[in-house]
Amino acid sequence: MRLDKFLSAIGVLSRRESSGAIRHKKVTVNGLPVRSGAVQIDPERDVIAYKGETLRWKAKFYVMLNKPEGTISSTEDSERTVMKLLPPEYERAGCFPCGRLDVDTVGLLLITNDGDTAHALLSPKRHVAKSYRFRCSEPLTEEMIARLENGVDLGDFKTAPAKLEMDTPTEGVISISEGKFHQIKRMLASVGSGIEFLERIKFGPLELDGSLERGAFRELTEEEIDSLLEAANNSPQGAI
Ligand code: URA
Repeated sequence: MRLDKFLSAIGVLSRRESSGAIRHKKVTVNGLPVRSGAVQIDPERDVIAYKGETLRWKAKFYVMLNKPEGTISSTEDSERTVMKLLPPEYERAGCFPCGRLDVDTVGLLLITNDGDTAHALLSPKRHVAKSYRFRCSEPLTEEMIARLENGVDLGDFKTAPAKLEMDTPTEGVISISEGKFHQIKRMLASVGSGIEFLERIKFGPLELDGSLERGAFRELTEEEIDSLLEAANNSPQGAI
């Protein structure tokens, strides 16, 4: 395995950061500094250290699932959990769904065993943007759209500004920077409409891969993992 892949796979450094650390001789392989992230290492045998500290090999997995309707994005409901759609190795490696989608919501769900990154991405302070394609029961007027965009009072909290891009009066994409329980359904209900279809198409820097069938999954590419680690490690963003 390449040294830079090892460093990003254990979640210590993104590939971009690892090339800087390697250039500055902060990374050693078996006690010796190396010149390039392309060096091949054996994660089970070689001793890799960053700033003098030995790094333990633990494979990190990052999976994009196109969640189908009727599945539950928690690990508890053993029959309907989305984890059943993946080979058991992922659950054995400690993978879990990063965040929740309702049972009838479909689309992009990140599944990972990188707890720190998942935690950072879900932190309300970080305002990670999520976009959903939706169809609602009532046509949205300009006034309803403006209310949703400005933030609506849901009783227990007022939503942060959202962004709506409508294709028809009942269909469009809504982007929010929060992730409260049933948030979009509650937002639409507060302006007098129901939700008939909800599909998450973006989560932070990740976009739903249009070639994935519902229920299908794939591991993230290295670029996607880097962008995810960057989104998790960057200082919190402002709202949309
Ligand atoms: N908002 C909802 O109402 N449901 C979801 O599953 C996600 C966002």
